Amino acid sequence: MALLHLSTSRLVALSLLLILVLPSFATARNNNNNNNNSTGFQNPILPGFHPDPSCIHVPEDGTFYCASSSFNVFPGIPIHASQDLTTWKLVGNVLNRPSQLPDLAISNGSTSGIWAPTLRHHNGTFYLVTTLVHDKKPPDDPTRWDNIIFQTRDIWDNLAWTDAVHFDFTGYDTSPYWDDDDDDDDEGTEYIVGSHAYHVEPGIHLAKVDLETGEIKSKWTNLWNGTGGLAPEGPHIYKKDGYYYLMIAEGGTGLDHMETIARSENLYGPYEANPANPILTNANTTGYFQTVGHADLFQDACGNWWGVALSTRSGPEYTTYPMGRETVLTNVTWEDGGSSSWPIFNEPIEGVMHAWELPPTSGHLPGDNQYVTEGDENIQFPPGSKMPQHFVHWRFPVDEAYTMSPEGHENALRLRPSKLNLTGVDGNTGAGGGQTFVGRRQVDTLFTYSVDVDYTPKTLEEEAGVTLFLTQAINHHVRLGIALLPVSNTNTNTNTTTLVPHFRFHAISYVYVPASFSVVVPPAWNNKTLTMEIEAVNVTHYSFSAAPVGRPRRVIAYAPGKIVSWGFTGTLLGVYATSNGGNGTQPAYVSNWNYLGRGQVRDN
Ligand SMILES: *[C@@H]1O[C@H](CO)[C@@H](O)[C@H](O)[C@H]1NC(C)=O
Ligand SMILES: *[C@@H]1O[C@H](CO)[C@@H](O)[C@H](O)[C@H]1NC(C)=O
Ligand SMILES: *[C@@H]1O[C@H](CO)[C@@H](O)[C@H](O)[C@H]1NC(C)=O
Ligand SMILES: *[C@@H]1O[C@H](CO)[C@@H](O)[C@H](O)[C@H]1NC(C)=O
Ligand SMILES: *[C@@H]1O[C@H](CO)[C@@H](O)[C@H](O)[C@H]1NC(C)=O
Ligand SMILES: *[C@@H]1O[C@H](CO)[C@@H](O)[C@H](O)[C@H]1NC(C)=O
Ligand SMILES: *[C@@H]1O[C@H](CO)[C@@H](O)[C@H](O)[C@H]1NC(C)=O
Ligand SMILES: *[C@@H]1O[C@H](CO)[C@@H](O)[C@H](O)[C@H]1NC(C)=O
Ligand SMILES: *[C@@H]1O[C@H](CO)[C@@H](O)[C@H](O)[C@H]1NC(C)=O
Ligand SMILES: *[C@@H]1O[C@H](CO)[C@@H](O)[C@H](O)[C@H]1NC(C)=O
Ligand SMILES: *[C@@H]1O[C@H](CO)[C@@H](O)[C@H](O)[C@H]1NC(C)=O
Ligand SMILES: *[C@@H]1O[C@H](CO)[C@@H](O)[C@H](O)[C@H]1NC(C)=O
Repeated sequence: MALLHLSTSRLVALSLLLILVLPSFATARNNNNNNNNSTGFQNPILPGFHPDPSCIHVPEDGTFYCASSSFNVFPGIPIHASQDLTTWKLVGNVLNRPSQLPDLAISNGSTSGIWAPTLRHHNGTFYLVTTLVHDKKPPDDPTRWDNIIFQTRDIWDNLAWTDAVHFDFTGYDTSPYWDDDDDDDDEGTEYIVGSHAYHVEPGIHLAKVDLETGEIKSKWTNLWNGTGGLAPEGPHIYKKDGYYYLMIAEGGTGLDHMETIARSENLYGPYEANPANPILTNANTTGYFQTVGHADLFQDACGNWWGVALSTRSGPEYTTYPMGRETVLTNVTWEDGGSSSWPIFNEPIEGVMHAWELPPTSGHLPGDNQYVTEGDENIQFPPGSKMPQHFVHWRFPVDEAYTMSPEGHENALRLRPSKLNLTGVDGNTGAGGGQTFVGRRQVDTLFTYSVDVDYTPKTLEEEAGVTLFLTQAINHHVRLGIALLPVSNTNTNTNTTTLVPHFRFHAISYVYVPASFSVVVPPAWNNKTLTMEIEAVNVTHYSFSAAPVGRPRRVIAYAPGKIVSWGFTGTLLGVYATSNGGNGTQPAYVSNWNYLGRGQVRDN
């Protein structure tokens, strides 16, 4: 997945005229009858924090499945399913139990965690191959790259995913391949192709592997180094008409990102590059969709080819893109005539694409209503309910910190404060056992997110509230909390301080942030349940506001979206509770969790 340009020197002065596409249009399927066999659909297909997509079509159940990267988030490696390529549901998370991969707890750094999964279906089994990256360790340290395989025969049951099986590879973006023509020996038909640590020796490497045990059964062979772009990565192998196609990303996952391809009649090469490379990129365009790359290919039931890739809705300015790298779709054609055939992507990637007729909507996925659409919602946390599938923590949660409908607080989520706040200690590490935080992805350019917070802090520095969260320490998030802080009583001769609830606003980022401040909560609001709200008021700014439930919200602060536009992940909206390292244990009760999309910007 992964090399990032943090350079902001490429700022392009360009005024974007942003067209708002309202949610009603966002869900419209345009089965265009005037334009034969061409269907309009909208990108991104998976808006929000869904980078490095890997998608398949399983003919047996007529369903498309996609996996995406989750970094430090838990549960991790979301699986989305669709039968028509436009309506997607989150059907599970591959990484749903800490016992599957305990080391996620000790990932250090906001770019660490699960990178670029590859999802494949072979002989009735789903395979998910990925890397737990400890991004702070040196690239040539083999323990930086913890490569892993998960399997399941029932993708609809989270608990059916196996524990991680580890295998040795000093690299990342690993992808399985089965070679049916391999007549060497019957055992040797399973392969893994991966990106060697680019800092050490950039290149794509292949080895035979036992996917059950993780045993590497041959030496790693360097197949191709790409066309010379930075960080050749995200390889996948496909076989078509006698050729092995090796498709990779290059350029780093920023504005220079692109997809390139080479092929060979032998799996081990030599690989010949496509003279038409790159085959997919939005680099050097003025489009709103940028950083297109890290693609995967699959065929639908009609035999039509499709490609998915990641993209950032940022325009070439590349300054405000809080939702990070999202999943986009496009149709793909193979040139006719076996020996000259290369895949051609429909590019550039745009907000509205015209492609093959989409697969017909069958109506419902199996067990449809148990699965989540990551969109508008009102969640009440009723008694006996579980944490919704799409709610995530930063690394593993401390389970006792979260209780649904505790006694006396029906339809509320009780948060017990962690000592650790969202900033954390010791940089962005798992040290300290987790902060009390739960959130969901931002999936609309414009939205309103609100919760009702019943919270009366009792101890100095206790704090609970809402956050626009990208990463933990040093990096990027914004929060508005209710915190118990001292005020000096200047009206008396005796110097006393009293502790009173404050709204505390805090933003951190590598780029300019508004000043942090605290203001006393209006006394009339004390001991009242407050609605706390985060809204994207326009494409560049968020507001943070509060008021007693049912009363007009008062804006407490604005924050620019560019301060949460960074790195590999995308914004989460959620709630937190912390003692800020102190002794406070006062719980916060969160209810009436609302998310309402108000517009999707898809074009400039
Ligand atoms: C679509 O197909 C019909 C016949 O099926 C034809 O009359 C019409 O011209 C076609 N339209 C386009 C835009 O190609
Ligand atoms: C339109 O697509 C259908 C099914 O994919 C195919 O049978 C039909 O021949 C196509 N029509 C044209 C005009 O391409
Ligand atoms: C995390 O990485 C930073 C930077 O390399 C290092 O200073 C710190 O000690 C690490 N913390 C842990 C717990 O590994
Ligand atoms: C396919 O899966 C079945 C059921 O797990 C197994 O018995 C069989 O050996 C597998 N075939 C191959 C070629 O791996
Ligand atoms: C890839 O680059 C390395 C140097 O980093 C070189 O030794 C190797 O031969 C190259 N591999 C191929 C397949 O061209
Ligand atoms: C973008 O343009 C630059 C400058 O012309 C060129 O070097 C680069 O290769 C282009 N990138 C892509 C992906 O086409
Ligand atoms: C995408 O689909 C459209 C509509 O059928 C078609 O005109 C176009 O050639 C296709 N492009 C590619 C690259 O597949
Ligand atoms: C109160 O404390 C402040 C500083 O903490 C000091 O300047 C001031 O003199 C004190 N006033 C009294 C009345 O003690
Ligand atoms: C809030 O409630 C606490 C007791 O829970 C009480 O001590 C305090 O005076 C109340 N504050 C206001 C402003 O009503
Ligand atoms: C977006 O909203 C912020 C906060 O209200 C405001 O400062 C900014 O000018 C607005 N930008 C546009 C383009 O309207
Ligand atoms: C967050 O917690 C750390 C460690 O307990 C503390 O140093 C820091 O001041 C806290 N940050 C805020 C904004 O309270
Ligand atoms: C927490 O409690 C301990 C023991 O009572 C006390 O020594 C310490 O000062 C308290 N810490 C804070 C931040 O209040």
